[in-house]
Amino acid sequence: MVTEKIGLEAAELLRIFEDADGNEVVALDGFSLSIQGSETVGLIGPSGCGKSTFLRLVAGLDQPQGGSLSVGGQPITGPDYHRGLVFQNAALFEWLTVWDNIAFGLKARKVYRQQKQRVQELIDLMGLTGFEKSYPHQISGGMASRTALARSFIQEPDIILLDEPLSSLDAFTRATIQDQIIDMQRRAQAIIILVTHDIEEAVYLCDRIIVMSARPGRVLGEVAVDLPHPRDRTEERFIALRRAVMHLLGNQA
Ligand SMILES: Nc1ncnc2c1ncn2[C@@H]1O[C@H](COP(=O)(O)OP(=O)(O)OP(=O)(O)O)[C@@H](O)[C@H]1O
Ligand SMILES: [Mg+2]
Repeated sequence: MVTEKIGLEAAELLRIFEDADGNEVVALDGFSLSIQGSETVGLIGPSGCGKSTFLRLVAGLDQPQGGSLSVGGQPITGPDYHRGLVFQNAALFEWLTVWDNIAFGLKARKVYRQQKQRVQELIDLMGLTGFEKSYPHQISGGMASRTALARSFIQEPDIILLDEPLSSLDAFTRATIQDQIIDMQRRAQAIIILVTHDIEEAVYLCDRIIVMSARPGRVLGEVAVDLPHPRDRTEERFIALRRAVMHLLGNQA
């Protein structure tokens, strides 16, 4: 069990790629972000500004050319189950059932027998009850997203990286899963970094929203969301926060 608070420190990150013609693409330059404790932090910015790049760096799937990145004071050197990444397209294991997808990490860590009941708990929490034996091609897009989220949360990661996990879903399904994410976060007490293009979703879920510049991605500003849960999307303060994020996004050169 994790008792102490895990912090994430990103300082002056630089990540340069090469495009197909060999030209430099500066995805991130001077990107800094500090997260303490179990915060849910939103990342919003124009397409191509380096949001997914940043998540991949935190996940340990890629390395920066400059700057520093650490979790709990330790530099990130590679992937680790303490940091879970959930992609936009769910990316489930097609050959495994919903149950086995969710149980996958427990089996890999050889704790499945002791923790089997947690699979059922998460299935129930995410509204997947009755679909345990279904394969990914037999479930809806919303169920696939929930399965992917449960597969990540079951590992009790310190940091959960969500890369537009709900962007392909209809508004009603999104709203349901947003509440389920809040529920899971309340139990998990992890750092969540949520990349989304949906400002309302960010204000609904996050404690803080980081607005990024167009490429090269840097932090333009941030908006603290000091509203208690459950949040009312129609309330004046909620709408004012949406406006504040839009204002920051709109102020780009
Ligand atoms: N492996 C790679 N090789 C070359 N260029 C890359 C690579 N990964 C990302 N890039 C480039 O880096 C930039 C940032 O990409 P990234 O995927 O981080 O953007 P993003 O903010 O997630 O965009 P979106 O909102 O569209 O998902 C883009 O210009 C992209 O083309
Ligand atoms: Mg992306």
